[in-house]
Amino acid sequence: MKTIDELLAEGVAGKRVFVRADLNVPLDGTTITDDGRIRAVQPTVAKLAEAGARVIVASHLGRPKGAPDPAFSLAPAAARLGELLGTEVAFATDTVGESATATVAVLTDGQVAVIENLRFNAGETSKDDAERGAFADQLAALADVYVGDGFGAVHRKHASVFDLPARLPHFAGYLIATEVGVLKKLTSDVKRPYAVVLGGAKVSDKLGVIDHLLEKADRILIGGGMAYTFLKAQGHEVGISLLQEDQVPTVQEYLKRADARGVEFVLPVDVLVSPEFPDLKTKAPANPTVVASDAIPADQEGLDIGPKTRELYAAKLADAATVFWNGPMGVFEHPDYAEGTRAVAQALVDSPAFSVVGGGDSAAAVRILGFDENAFGHISTGGGASLEYLEGKSLPGLAALEN
Ligand code: 3PG
Repeated sequence: MKTIDELLAEGVAGKRVFVRADLNVPLDGTTITDDGRIRAVQPTVAKLAEAGARVIVASHLGRPKGAPDPAFSLAPAAARLGELLGTEVAFATDTVGESATATVAVLTDGQVAVIENLRFNAGETSKDDAERGAFADQLAALADVYVGDGFGAVHRKHASVFDLPARLPHFAGYLIATEVGVLKKLTSDVKRPYAVVLGGAKVSDKLGVIDHLLEKADRILIGGGMAYTFLKAQGHEVGISLLQEDQVPTVQEYLKRADARGVEFVLPVDVLVSPEFPDLKTKAPANPTVVASDAIPADQEGLDIGPKTRELYAAKLADAATVFWNGPMGVFEHPDYAEGTRAVAQALVDSPAFSVVGGGDSAAAVRILGFDENAFGHISTGGGASLEYLEGKSLPGLAALEN
């Protein structure tokens, strides 16, 4: 994989450089609630601009349906990138139309432009190679060189991630180089004990990685919404908690395999429950109750791990040498359900282990809960991307940069 340093050595002054970033940041209206992904790509953009490139930054945001939708505009992200760079950033209100063409045409050396959400064009995510290719051709016409730095999207076979690099000289940016370097440490010569903490809503999103980690990890701690499918698989009732009933047999098989391989599966021993999902807007007190995880009342929903589980998980992480964490332990956006996620973050801060926090949600949680990012080994910008990397899958966006 050629890196941006090789591109800089060749010289980029006057060249139009297309940077595929991942500016898919959480928004509350037009307010960015966590700008981690924008900060993560800033060094690549800054370096290219300093070297005199005409930088075109592109990304997706959210999942619009292949047509313009103002709720998913990249305008707030473009403004934030400008603040971080300390310079004005031009903004094109389309992807490959008149606005983008005109914006790029007037870029001068060292200037930066952001084009509108790539997913406003159906070609970006199309399953049809020709449709994706046609959009990639239009994007290619905007630039001379491609720099891939949207690590969070490298697992997507999308036009700007997979097809466009084949059409232009291509290089990996600093963020992709760093992310891949860190994740490699979790796949070969891992320092043991290797503990993995998995949370988030859906167990189905994590099946591939669990399957793989059963061969690699020493300990797997489960929290978040997916924990209830595990509890059900152990024969417990979970009330009205999130449950993927169809996944119960697979989870039961994983629990058996873990047993056979000597991998320790750790599940919540207590949980915070309530009859209602909390109001995340008003953050009105939710007054949850603590119950044992094998005694969840039929009319209640589990929304965070409980105090005994917090202690248990901290103890299970204290002597680990390597930790990978993906997915919050509860509905951390509400203060009454943030303590489980906070406890895991704190355990990683307190532990000497090499810790990698992967995933949009857990990475955002760490920052929103006020932790210092530098207290962790690495905070990945990729959720699905880091999971698929750990599963050992070939990631289209990395494969495209390698070719
Ligand atoms: C992410 O948020 O994980 C990346 O930006 C990819 O987004 P996607 O899951 O909508 O493709």
